[in-house]
Parts: sequence; C-alpha cells; structure tokens
Amino acid sequence: MLVQGKNYKTIWMEGSSVFMIEQNKLPFEFEIIECTTYQETCRAIKDMTVRGAGAIGAAAGYAMAQAYSAACSDKDTFIAKARFGIEATRPTARNLFYAVERVFYAGKISVENAFLEAGKIAEKDMNDTRAIGSFGNELIGNKANILTHCNAGWLAFVDFGTALSPVYTAFNQGKELFVYVDETRPRGQGARLTAWELNNAGIPHRIIADNAAAGLMVQGKIDLVIVGADRIAANGDTANKIGTLDRAILANYFNIPFYIAAPSSTFDFGCASGDKIIIEERSQDEVLFQEGMDENNQWHKIRVSSPGSTAYNPAFDVTPAQLITGIITEKGIIKSTKEAIESLFNSL
Ligand code: MRU
Repeated sequence: MLVQGKNYKTIWMEGSSVFMIEQNKLPFEFEIIECTTYQETCRAIKDMTVRGAGAIGAAAGYAMAQAYSAACSDKDTFIAKARFGIEATRPTARNLFYAVERVFYAGKISVENAFLEAGKIAEKDMNDTRAIGSFGNELIGNKANILTHCNAGWLAFVDFGTALSPVYTAFNQGKELFVYVDETRPRGQGARLTAWELNNAGIPHRIIADNAAAGLMVQGKIDLVIVGADRIAANGDTANKIGTLDRAILANYFNIPFYIAAPSSTFDFGCASGDKIIIEERSQDEVLFQEGMDENNQWHKIRVSSPGSTAYNPAFDVTPAQLITGIITEKGIIKSTKEAIESLFNSL
C-alpha cells in the first residue's frame, strides 16, 4: 500500500534480515525496523511491533528461516528450541503456527528451501488477501455504512488485509462508502491503525468508542459488519480481537450481516470448536495505562485507571459460528458451518 507516495508491505525479507513497519509507533511515526536474528524477530512479534494474523504468520515463517541460517552444531536441538520460542510468542494466531510448521519442514531439506518457503507464505498471504477483497466487494453496496473492529487491514497482513480489503476494492471501484472504526480498547488498534490506514487511503470514516456500536445500530447507521479472525475452528467458531463477540451479538439482534474475512491459513482444521482455542492473556498495563504522543511530539504513558487496582486483559474472544453470516475467504464466501469448512479444506 502507498505511504507518502511509496509502496510498502507491512513486512518483507532482504537477505537474512526481516524488515517491518514499527506498528507500536503508528499513527505518530512511520518507521521501518530491521531484525537480523530469529530472536529479534520473535521479540518484534511478542511486543507487537508486528501484529495481526497474517503479518505475524509471515514474521514467524521468516523467523524460522533465520533460525535455520543460524544453526550450526547440534542443529536439531537449536531448531527445536527456536520453533518452541517462535510459537510461544502469540498463542492464539493460527497463521503463526501454520507458517512455522511449513518452514520447519522446508528447512529440513536445506536453509535455502526454508527461506524459499517463508517467501512463498508471504506471497500467498498477499494473493489471498487480494482475492478476499474481490469476493468481499460483492457484499458492499453503494453508500454502505460498514463497521469494523480492531485492525484487519494491510498492516495486519503482508498487504491489502482481510476485513479492509473489500473496503479498498469497493472504494477503488468508485463506490461511496463509510467506515465506522471501533476504537478497540485496550491497545486501540482501530483508533490508531485502522484509522491511519483509512486516512492514508482517503476513505471516509469516523472512530467510535467501543460501546457506541449498539447506539449506531439501533439508529440504522450500520449496514454491514466485517471483521478479521485470528483462528477459526473446524465448526466455524472464530477467535478475534476482544470485543468482536459483542459486535456479533449486536449484529444478530439487529439483523445486520456479520462477516468474518480470513484466508484459509487462519483456519485450524484440527481444532474442533472454539472452546479449544487458547486465548492469549496480555499485560494488565495495556488496560491500566494508555500511551501516545502530545502536540510537541513527546511520548507519554499515563495511568487511566485507579492506582492500586489490577486488571484482567484477555486479548481475544470467540464468536460462535451461528452468529456469523459468512466467512470471506480467498476461495469465495462460505457459510460458517462444519460442512462448508470441510469443503474449503478439501479444495486446498
Ligand atoms: O493482537 P493483534 O493486534 O495482533 O490482534 C490481531 C488482530 O489484528 C485482530 O484480532 C484482527 O481482527 C484479526 S487479524 C487480522
């Protein structure tokens, strides 16, 4: 996607270095960072310098390839330890495990093969998310008002995104549309990242507080909800950013279509249902404090909660399949049923 007239991907590899957009500094500063070792790439995943299902997957694949290039004596132990370390960074994101497994086996043939495989995963992510844009575009009528949660735009993937890819396609085709962007507490991926992306692309939007959705829906201001996914179980239950379940329940109540957009690499065909999905719990500081820049470009972390109180911070929730109208994949829009997911699996 274009940033100040230059085309960027969220993450890419040059030689054995991984380059990525530093997402913790957005929307205030646009910075590219370089990770020269698998340990540095792991740190970037863990501290959310790179975040979002597909981008995490690409980073994890690259990290596994970096580990192969660093392994010397006792290679098997080194690689097993590296794999464990990469997988421990973000437990909910399915794409991470998908990528690590593929590169792990590719690297058994040669280091070059590991790098090749990691590159293929990133390439596939771009192709899949572009296709999701074309299929999802069919759901967007002219003058549609769309609600999205968190950031499932190009920053969450290698490019294009999932929930926002149909928005980009529709907008580029000249459709008039408007996006309501959930702030997405506690980390504010909506207010910071989705809003930055939409600003960048000139797409009309407004940020809303997380608890504003019902009020907008009851007034008929939302035609369609599209969100991303971090892991989709074999029965269609879907883990996504905390707060997604609330939107799904609301959309269901108000009879508004609620779509998940995700590539097949986000499906966990071995996970029978949503209750088996491990939900990442993150630092309570994300709830208790907020970070940002003042008008003099000074970075601040301030407490926005009662001193002495503690917080509980699950990063994701699981939306039951029956609340999902459909899933926009790179193969088309499918129902959130076991049968539809099985036939997606068989078509891969
Ligand atoms: O914790 P994050 O920012 O890595 O969360 C993942 C997400 O970006 C969202 O849950 C998103 O909706 C699905 S991934 C594109």
